[in-house]
Amino acid sequence: MSEGFTIWLTGPSGAGKTTLARALKERFKEMGYKVEILDGDEIRNTLYPNLGFSKEAREMHNKVVIYMAKLLSRNGVIAIVSLISPYKSVREYARKEIERFIEVYVYAPLEIRIKRDPKGLYAKALKGEIKGLTGYDGVYEEPENPEVKVDSSKMSVDEEVELIIKKAKELNYL
Ligand code: PPS
Ligand code: MG
Repeated sequence: MSEGFTIWLTGPSGAGKTTLARALKERFKEMGYKVEILDGDEIRNTLYPNLGFSKEAREMHNKVVIYMAKLLSRNGVIAIVSLISPYKSVREYARKEIERFIEVYVYAPLEIRIKRDPKGLYAKALKGEIKGLTGYDGVYEEPENPEVKVDSSKMSVDEEVELIIKKAKELNYL
């Protein structure tokens, strides 16, 4: 069994985490690897749809995802985490817990995120109907030294995937 690892996609809502996670999954499957996506939005909706977005709630939820990713990646699976994970301290904890770890900062400028707005969240935030939207009026602590940074307003999804694969090879994870 080859060893697994974790690709941690962090970034504000609408930056392109979920899209990138899906493309990575397809690529790794084609390459013959075992792979799972841990998507924050999906895990919330399945396990605790009423959890909310306070700092405490986000920290607790992020730690659940860290635990899942750790179990998967130490058992030969590539865990692709797609999670806003706005707090640096929590991402540092993830890095400490998970032995083979690639942090990817998924970036897109605010005006692009507002334009995409697939769930209408920015429209609501702009009207003041929701508060604390990450990347608008909610905290997002930018990664200082991620292994990879992608700008989804300038790069294609394929280019993003290739950059991450290159890094994984450099680290001897692939
Ligand atoms: S976190 O911060 O790590 O707990 O976030 P995560 O589990 O990834 O969930 C983010 C998705 O929740 C939806 N949503 C919000 N996100 C951020 N802030 C607020 N206030 C909020 N309200 C709802 C939104 O669909 C996020 O999904 P993505 O895919 O990031 O857009
Ligand atoms: Mg998403």
